[in-house]
Amino acid sequence: MYLCGHSLGLQTKSTAEYVAQELIDWQRLAVLGHHAAERPWISYHERATAALAALVGAAETEVVAMNSLTVNLHLMMVSFFRPGGRRNRVLIEKSAFPSDRYAVVSQLEYHGLNAAEHLIEVAPREGERCLRTEDLIACLEREGPRLALVLLPGVQYLTGQVLDLAPLIAAARDVGANVGLDLAHAVGNIPLRLHDWNADFAVWCSYKYLNAGPGAVGGCFVHERHGERRDLPRFAGWWGHPEATRFEMGPQFTPIAGAQGWQISNPPILSTAPLLASLDVFQRAGMARLREKSIALTGFLQSLIEDLLPRAVQIVTPGGAGERGCQLSLRLVLPGPEARRCHERLIGAGVIGDWREPDIVRLAPAPLYNSYHDVFLAVEALSRAVAS
Ligand SMILES: Cc1ncc(COP(=O)(O)O)c(C=O)c1O
Repeated sequence: MYLCGHSLGLQTKSTAEYVAQELIDWQRLAVLGHHAAERPWISYHERATAALAALVGAAETEVVAMNSLTVNLHLMMVSFFRPGGRRNRVLIEKSAFPSDRYAVVSQLEYHGLNAAEHLIEVAPREGERCLRTEDLIACLEREGPRLALVLLPGVQYLTGQVLDLAPLIAAARDVGANVGLDLAHAVGNIPLRLHDWNADFAVWCSYKYLNAGPGAVGGCFVHERHGERRDLPRFAGWWGHPEATRFEMGPQFTPIAGAQGWQISNPPILSTAPLLASLDVFQRAGMARLREKSIALTGFLQSLIEDLLPRAVQIVTPGGAGERGCQLSLRLVLPGPEARRCHERLIGAGVIGDWREPDIVRLAPAPLYNSYHDVFLAVEALSRAVAS
């Protein structure tokens, strides 16, 4: 019972075929494969664009498959975290994924600023685990003129909470801040409308719900209003320069209009191949149908736990379907190290979720490959693990 798609998604059936094709073309064609491969490498990453744009609710010019999440976050902050005068703070949530916090703090320090003064962290209320939209908006309004950047998750990795992004992004932009999103746990999980929501940028990885494999190439969204801006600083590389003149090898960098202009290096074909295999399935299944099944599957998991384990397991994730994606974060109400042992027994019984200190098990039925039967067997195993 694999309920760990929030960490690493399962392999799409056609992945081996997609990767094998590139190995064959490399062996057969070597350098000629850039233009003569079945899927020519020169524009290989562009094959991901249409499906990614549909998944995140963007125009094709607003998305690009490149790098990995934290690398993209740094590249975006080079362009969209421009502290100046009093506007020199970054707002994040208190339980932000550590890599995001490390990246933000290192960017602050790069600009001669420091976390103690310039990092604003919003926490859930005392005794609560999830963030409240009104608290985030109150903080945005309070800090308004000092905020250069607001970085929010689409789905909070620890609690599984879906943030109400439309009003949050609007409030952040109203106070004059730039807004970036970490969509690691959101892309391929919940419907997104990045263009309409008006985020400045978003970054994601594709090894979770997108099933593109360990360390697979990630993605990036840049809103169209920035696509042709030349005044934004950026870290440039040749793959961000238009293909038509790239191989003239001139000294002058001219960015491609849109998100592709933030590319630096030529894309890793072997780690992009599994992404194409997976996106093909997402396109055929359609996010609307996946979401419908996801709501039912996770709702089933929730009701079984509430019925069978009302005392030993506390669901940390919000109860409403609109406020969560696939994942439920379960707090094991057991004394001391017993919670961790319970998770080990769960793994021993063949239920793969994951553990977050001090007492959280995360389980995420993925609509592409999990069944109601998986969910039923997992809760049965959890009941036994809690009782023994
Ligand atoms: C929410 C979140 N942000 C950032 C990261 C870091 O991703 P990467 O190692 O691809 O930079 C992860 C990885 O799991 C994550 O879950």
